[in-house]
Formats: sequence, structure tokens, C-alpha cells
Amino acid sequence: MPQSMNLTQKILAAHLVEGSLEPGSEIAIKPDQVLTQDATGTMVYLQFETTGLNRIKVDLGVSYIDHNLLQVGYENADDHRYLASVAAKFGVHLSRAGNGICHQIHLERFVRPGGFLLGSDSHTPTAGGAGMLGIGAGGLDVAVALAGAPYFLRMPRVVRVELRGRLRPWVAAKDVILELLRRLTVKGGVGCIFEYTGPGVATLSVYERATICNMGAELGATSSLFPSDERTREFFQSVGREEDWQPLEADVGADYDEEIVINLDELEPLIAQPHSPDNVVKVNEIAGMPVQQVVIGSCTNSSLEDMAIAAEILKGKVIPPHVSLVIAPGTRRILRMMIANGILDTLIESGARILEVGCGPCNGIGQSPASGSVSVRTVNRNYRGRSGTEDALVYIASPAVAAATALRGRITDPRELGDMPELKISKIYPVDDNLIVTPPPEGEKVEIVRGPNIKPVPQTDPLPDKLELTVMLKAGDNVSTDDIIPGGARLLSLRSNIPAMAEYTFSRLDSGFVGRVKEHNRPWMVVGGENFGQGSSREHAVLAPLYLGLKVVVAKSFARIYRQNLINYGVLPLILAEPEDYACISLGAVFTLERLRNKLLEEKSLVLEDKSKGLKIPVVHDLSQREVELILSGGLLRYVGSNN
Ligand code: F3S
Repeated sequence: MPQSMNLTQKILAAHLVEGSLEPGSEIAIKPDQVLTQDATGTMVYLQFETTGLNRIKVDLGVSYIDHNLLQVGYENADDHRYLASVAAKFGVHLSRAGNGICHQIHLERFVRPGGFLLGSDSHTPTAGGAGMLGIGAGGLDVAVALAGAPYFLRMPRVVRVELRGRLRPWVAAKDVILELLRRLTVKGGVGCIFEYTGPGVATLSVYERATICNMGAELGATSSLFPSDERTREFFQSVGREEDWQPLEADVGADYDEEIVINLDELEPLIAQPHSPDNVVKVNEIAGMPVQQVVIGSCTNSSLEDMAIAAEILKGKVIPPHVSLVIAPGTRRILRMMIANGILDTLIESGARILEVGCGPCNGIGQSPASGSVSVRTVNRNYRGRSGTEDALVYIASPAVAAATALRGRITDPRELGDMPELKISKIYPVDDNLIVTPPPEGEKVEIVRGPNIKPVPQTDPLPDKLELTVMLKAGDNVSTDDIIPGGARLLSLRSNIPAMAEYTFSRLDSGFVGRVKEHNRPWMVVGGENFGQGSSREHAVLAPLYLGLKVVVAKSFARIYRQNLINYGVLPLILAEPEDYACISLGAVFTLERLRNKLLEEKSLVLEDKSKGLKIPVVHDLSQREVELILSGGLLRYVGSNN
């Protein structure tokens, strides 16, 4: 270990189970806490069930219901009821629908400086605002963490972001992270943890720091971290948890892999244009563009300060008739503080529509904009179609920019409004945990409740020594997870129902695919080109074809997360040794793989043999020893079970 450690190294060293803190080397770290949300959580707990454990083996697990709150059919309600029952059975705290967004609640109720939180949501790094390392991961990695296994990752590079000076009036924490996105792009943080230091840190509240850490995910960063200081202590005091606070900072003279400086007093209000969070310009460069919708909320910007600045801007005024202003408070506590401080009344008077506490419009669950319209939102992502409207133009900005824009009906730099008002709000408000259900001390008598939308996860078997595989699909380059399983609101409600979801497998590429595979009813394989499985981290893009009998994918190359998901579920990713052999493989061909176990363990190359044609196709694998054993065991869950 280095003598002087940065904050990231200190936290990782305290949780290290295997490996060394050399950038790029594989490390295993053990989480103190695990967070799930309902959109990914149902699958996490279905997977946890298959371990056969009676209780979780992590200090704290919290299951949040904040995403799929619309109950226009039985599916989401089924999921919520299932989540409540598994939480009680396995010893997980449950944050019920209506309590608020996972990251905001977790920050106020559970985060501890110096701890490590693993979450099945990409914005888990929000916890870094209060000095806790938060990392987002795939559902299966989170399920095995609940079962007591460490989380494996390559040691990230640690980037020091030195903040100097102080934000000027009307410039917000959102502008700090938009500035980083402007400079570094959405790929600029891949493989990195951003650690914030410097005199500017003390000028930011924990909620402002949380906004910055939250959107570090859009940089592609593994996580983001602030030190735990006097401002952090004030925050813990305000949420009634002063005893959970401890000071924490990097050692003097600690080394970093890279350094960035941001002069806070040089920043101006910024805005990300469609359709990427890094498409950032100054607000005044596009000021004047008419807008039809403004949304203030999400896990990035729904704190009391965020709502208060919006109310100050809109006080005593009414929004124009062509604008829909939507307010989604982050938590129940924030909603109650908004009531206590008169903020809610001001916003309602101005013409705002008040939504249920939760994620809401952020990922297209309600309030989708009109076709082709402009929506300015305080959210973190503006990818095409995420709002639920394919051709909507979504811009991302701070609450001050959003409220000024709602007031004028066009994109507005809030500096046009004159002096920034001083926010006179009472931040101390009693926390009530009425919607957090503590699990009973024992769960044996708790029955798991499954409605018709809750189906078991497909079981994977240990890989047999000999496989006979039919090529059921031959695809081209850049097949995306959306090509494998389409997104959209309908399929979102089937996240806990793999058999129903599997009906859509490869439907974008071949409408008759599922019928052919069902009729075939034997193990099969897919052949692809370059970058197979690009796109989102959605593990359903492996689970659905797995349910239909997929055993092997042969491609010229794989997208990183899809490859990991295949391995986690015991599906073998093989790479064509000679890319030109792609042309020799035809749909319907039957290939044999023999002495598979020995070959995978001892060699990097194998041969796919079509005995009917005397055709031999050389393939290779790039699996580590641990990954080979994981696939041979039948996937991560079985592997962890057999090693526990
Ligand atoms: Fe929810 Fe959007 Fe955040 S879906 S967790 S508010 S990114």
C-alpha cells in the first residue's frame, strides 16, 4: 500500500478481499451495503432466491420501489408485492412506493462516510456526495454480493478534480458536472474514479456534491467521491444522524493518476443539448428557443434547495399557456419540507403539475413530451427516446435554468432575471421512516408472494463436455442489446417475467425467430460480427435467449458488458480466430465442440466442427481462469454457491 493514500485508495484498501491497488489489475472488494431498485430489483431477488440462502450476508440491504410506480396493469403491482415479501424473508429493508428515489433516500438515511455501497442502479455513486464509495453494477453481481461474495472490478485510475473558488450567483452544481462532460465527453471517465479536492469543496453542500457525483455516471466513471468534512457533518446533523458522521480526506501528498482543475468562479449556466449529456453549450448561446415542457426532479436535482430556487423564480407569477411545468420531488421528506416552507404552494400557484415522489418522467414513466417538442429537464440523461417520445428534444440543465425557462416559455439564462434571491428555508425537518419497513429478525415464516408476472429466473446447467449446436441466427456487426431484446414501457413491466419477455428475442432482426427456436427445441448458438451486444447493460438481453436454449455466441468481437453478462449466466463467448471464417458459417449449420472442459481450462483455442461438411472453424476465448470456472459451474450463482 502507498504511504500517503488518496481517499479512493483508503476506502478500497479497507474493503479489499483480493488483489492490489495497481490501476488495471483485478481487485475484489466487499460491500458494506447493497441497494436495489424495483426495475432491476425483482431480478436481483429472483436470482438471490436460487442461492438457497435464508438471509442476506451483507451488513445492510435496502430494496427501493421508485421506478415503475404507474399501476395501469397488474404487472408493476405484482412486482412491488413480491419485493415486499422477499425483503421481509431475506432480511432486506424495504423503502415502499411513495417514499422517494433510491439515491436521495439512501443519502439521507443510510450512507456512511468511508463505506462501500454496491447498487443495481448506475447512479449509485450519488453516495459519494457524503464520502461513501458507491458503485453501480449488473443485477447478478448485486445478487451475489447479497449472498456474501465480493465484487470484482479492475482497479480504476483515480482522477483528482481540484475545485477552486466559489460558484457565482445563478451558477449551480449541475454546471460543474456539465462542464466536466463538456471537457471529457461521455467516454472520458471510463475506468476512473473522480475524487474532488481543493478549497472549492467547502463551498458546496452535500446535496450539491451529490448532484456532481450522480452525474459522474454520465462520464462513464466507475464512481465519484467527495471528502467528509464540516459541511458533511452539518448534513448528517440535519437528517438526525450525526453519530454516523466521521471526518475523512486524502492524505497530504497523496498521488493521483490524473489531475483536473475547475475554477468555480469562471463557470456560467450550461445546458446539454439533445441527444447526449456531453453535448454541452452555454445557456446564453441557445437562449430564446421556445419550449413546451419543463421537468424539475430526478435523482440528480430534486433536493429542497433545488425546489426552493425554482419557487423563488416563479413566486407570484404564472407560466405561459404553451408550457407544461412538471415537479417531481425526490423524497417524502423533501415534499413535506416544501409544504412547510411554502414552496409547494408557490409552485402550484404558478401552474406547476405536481407528481408523485419518485423517478417519474426521468426514464419515460409518465409525462412523455408531445411529438417533436422541446423539454428542458434537470435529469441526468437525454438519450433519444428515453423520455418515452422518440422524436422529443430533451435538454439537461440546472433547476434555476429550468425554472427561468418555464417562466419565460423559452430557454432562458437565469442571469436575465436580475439578482439571485437569497434562499430562506428551514432545512431541519424531522425525518420519518414510516415508509421504510425493517425486516423481522427471522424470515422463515414469511411466504414469498408471486403474482402471475413473477416467474423464476432461467436455470443454467454446468457446461457439458460435448455440445452439438445449431446456428439459429447469423447477425452482422454492432448488434445492440435493443436488437436482442427491444426496450420500451411494455417490456419494462415484464422485467420479472423472462418467459414473456423471451417472446421478443431478436424480434427486430428476425420476426420468426422465437417460433423457429421453439420448434428446434435443442441447444443452439448465434454467430455475430464485430462489437456484438453493444448498448445498455440490460442483462435481459442474455436472460431471454438463455431461456430459449442459447449456449454459445461466436462473434468477431464482443461489447464489454454483454460479454460479462454472458459469462455471468454461463453462456460461452467465443471469438473467431480468423474473422473471414464468418463467411463460411451458414444458418442452420450444426457444429460440435468436444472435450470442452479440458480445452477451456488448458488452452485458449478450440475448434467448431461441422462433421456433415468436414468444416473446421478455429475459435479462441479470452477468459480468465476464474471466468472459465464460472462458466463451467453453470454461471455466477452456481459458482458462488459451490465456493461458499
Ligand atoms: Fe430514477 Fe432517473 Fe435516477 S430513473 S434513479 S431518477 S436516473
